[in-house]
Parts: sequence; C-alpha cells; structure tokens
Amino acid sequence: MARIREGLPLEKRGDKGERAEKQAEAIVGAAIASRGERERVESEEPREGKPAGMKLQLALFSSLFLNAYFYFCLFLHHHQPPPSLGWAGSAAAEAEAVAAIDCSGHGRAFLDGVLAGGGLPVCYDCSRLLHDCPADVDSGDPLFLEAYWQQQAASSAVVVSGWHRMTYSTNGKDYISIELEKHIRILHQAVGNAVTDGKFIVFGSGSAQLINALVYALSPSNASSSPASVVASAPYYPFYKKQTNLFETREYGWGGTTATWANASVSSATNVIEFVTSPNNPDGLFKQPVLGTSAVIFDYAYYWPHYSPILDPADEDVMLFTNSKISGHAGSRWAVIKDEGVYERTAKYLSLNTMGVSRDTHLRVLKLIKRRREEKGTSSSSVLRAKARWSKLHELASSSSRFSLQHSAQHRNYFERSETLLPYAWLKCEWKEDEDCHEALRKGSIISRAGALFEADSRYTRLSLIKTQDDFDLFLKRMQPLVSREEMASS
Ligand SMILES: Cc1ncc(COP(=O)(O)O)c(C=O)c1O
Repeated sequence: MARIREGLPLEKRGDKGERAEKQAEAIVGAAIASRGERERVESEEPREGKPAGMKLQLALFSSLFLNAYFYFCLFLHHHQPPPSLGWAGSAAAEAEAVAAIDCSGHGRAFLDGVLAGGGLPVCYDCSRLLHDCPADVDSGDPLFLEAYWQQQAASSAVVVSGWHRMTYSTNGKDYISIELEKHIRILHQAVGNAVTDGKFIVFGSGSAQLINALVYALSPSNASSSPASVVASAPYYPFYKKQTNLFETREYGWGGTTATWANASVSSATNVIEFVTSPNNPDGLFKQPVLGTSAVIFDYAYYWPHYSPILDPADEDVMLFTNSKISGHAGSRWAVIKDEGVYERTAKYLSLNTMGVSRDTHLRVLKLIKRRREEKGTSSSSVLRAKARWSKLHELASSSSRFSLQHSAQHRNYFERSETLLPYAWLKCEWKEDEDCHEALRKGSIISRAGALFEADSRYTRLSLIKTQDDFDLFLKRMQPLVSREEMASS
C-alpha cells in the first residue's frame, strides 16, 4: 500500500488520482484478503479437505474479477468522449486547428496570423533562416515558458464570448475584477513573495503605464513643493529614465543615478523617488534603497521562484509585479500599495490614462494565475531545461579569457538553488580592444543589450537567457567562433 501511495506524487493526484488510488487500494485489499484467506485455508486444508480448496478458488476468482473490473473502470474514465459543445464549438475547433499546425517544430502559427493559401495562418518560423539570422539575445521576453504553456494547453485556454464584459466597468473597484484581485492575493500568498494583506491592488496594461502612474502618485501634489527627482542605482532598467523623461511634468523629472546623490544631503523630506529592482535587471543582484528617502518603488518583476530564491515575503509600501515575467504574457502588471492616498492617485492616473485594462486580458490573466498558483508560481520542467543554458554559458566563459561573467557570492547562491533561472547574464568583455562589448558581439552576429543603456560601462552587455531554445542554441553557435578566435590569437 505504501508503495502505491508513494508512486503518485501528491500534487499530481487530484480527484482522478484519488479515485484511482482508492480503486488500487481496493484491488490490493482484495488481493491481500484473498492471500490471507488462502493462507488460512491452506493451514486448515488437511483438516477440512475439499471445502477449503473451493474457498481458495473462489477468493482467487473474485480477486481476478475485481482486478479486471477496476481496470476496465479506469480505462473508461480515461477514454470518455468530451461533452459536445454549443456556441463555443466552432471557436474551439478553430483554435485547435491552428494549434495543430506543426511549423517544422520551431515556428508558431497564431489564430490572428496572416492567412496562407489554405485559409490557415502562416507559420512564424525562423528555423529556415537560421543560417543568416543573427542570434537575438536582446529582449527579456520569457519565451522559454512557451513549451510549458503548450503542455498546459487545456488548463490555460480561455473562451471569450462576444458579450463578455462589454462595458467600461468590471465587477470590482477601479477597473480590476473581484476574482482577479482575489487570485493575485492568493498567488502571492502561495508563493510567499509578497504581503498583500491590508494593501490595495491596481491592475495596469504594462510596466510603461504603472511605472509612470506610481511616479505621478508619489510626486508632491502641492504646487508650491519642488518637483520630485526620480533616481535609480546603475545598472538599472532603462524604462525608469525613458518614461520619466517622456512624461516629465512640473511635479517630477529624472534625477540621474543614486551615485550622483551620494554626497548630497538627502533627508526623508527631500523629494526623491527611488526605483529599486530586486533581483536587478540586468545583473541579477538583490538590491536595497540607498538614499533613505520615504518614496521608494520596489520593482519585483523577477522576485518569482523561477528566477530567484524567495527569501522573505516582501512587505514594502509600493511594489510592482508584472505578469510578463510570471507567465510570459506581456501587457499586464499590477502594483501593491499600502497607503490609501497613493493608491487613490495611482487609480486616478489609470482612470484618466486608459480607463482600465481590456476585460479580455483580465479573464486571460485570471486563468493563467490560477494555473501558476497551483504550481506555486514555478514550472520546474521548463526552468530546469532553461537552467542547462547557464551551465553551457559558464563552460564557455570559463574557457575564455575574452569574456567573463559576473560571479559574485549572490550569484553562487542562485546556482545552488537548482530551481532558479537567473534571467540575464551580465557579460564583460575583457580584451582591451573590445571596449564596446555589445559591438564586439554584434560583429559576431549576436544581438545583445548594451551596458550603456543601463548606464553601465560599455565593457558590459546583457544576454537574455529566457528566450526560446532556438535562440539560445544559435547564440552558442555564434559565440564559438568568437571564443575560438582567442585560441588562434594565443597560438
Ligand atoms: C525590472 C523590470 N520591470 C518591468 C519590466 C517589464 O514589465 P512589463 O512587461 O509589464 O512591461 C521589465 C522587463 O524587462 C523589467 O526588467
């Protein structure tokens, strides 16, 4: 019995598993009962003769019969035809037909793709162009999760009817549906990465929108106050600066890096809004605010178990999370806000800016979050597959005097945690002539993200390790000649 219990992992059992287990228990129970009976009968046989033999046969037959019966039930259970569909039938058939397009195993076809001759969408497929394609390890698009969602096709699909929430309002407050808000809180609690109790949640279209909404909300509303300076420690996610510069108003403007403020006397009364990204994009380090001001926006885009060890639940006043890094689906993120005044100003910004996020997005994110919650935010199979990328990269860098990887105690900590995939590699070009590392890679047909964009030294460049396997394989292929060139140079 114990063996059967261990054989099925708890989380995989579910209802079906439980039923199967009960049936298995019944079968084993019957077998044990019949064995007990047999032993008893055998020991009694010399005394009772024929009737005991018949009992043994009866027990064996009933055990065999029960076995056959329960296996038949299990078989039926797994081969039940799906319930026939009504209005969703043709939409479901259309979605499945597109999902079945193979695209040579590398590309993708989408329901809203350009139609090919046969009326089906064409494949977006770079596999045939790979010889000429540059290796693109630029964007932080977590496409490595695509394989996972393909496996989760049934548990992640949503059907949106034409009358689905047609109005501006949801059933919740300030453009977030009650169910979505509830499940965002449940997800954080299950993962243990943030405290949401007693805090407000706002839902936005993406980082661009919420980053600026929070800067606006934390800026002084009083016209006589000096404008707030928005700062971050280098290297930092470039959007903070780009966004602030684009929307600069009387209330706020970009104030540069925290290093430029290090010698200034910054008190909690100074109007400074500091962005803290932890783990940080691009270098993956855990960060803390450095200026000691009260207005801090904690960007926890990567504080999820598939990118980072979860040390404690974050309990800050203003925290940002993005679905694009949790599930890989861009265009939806949320903020968790403690202070009611800050929340009201953020909600006002969103209301004037977009009047809420598309209701279809609410529905889809709800479905994806529920799935993630069941797994406590991770999807170990895809992460483990992607983790192999780090080993290959380490191997490459350790055999090279030209390129090195950031290798701090924090990074070693990451790699000890087998379920963690640090999303970016922060690569340094060590050769004197490779002053611009991004350019050195570009000459080798590799597109990375230049360190200068993060306000770091141009000897650094960022490699995204969370794209597709094809992207990564091509990147390794393109790196080989760059590394071999140094062998030639030294021989
Ligand atoms: C620190 C950080 N915040 C936010 C984002 C993007 O968020 P979103 O996908 O919601 O626009 C990124 C994406 O690279 C990021 O690195």
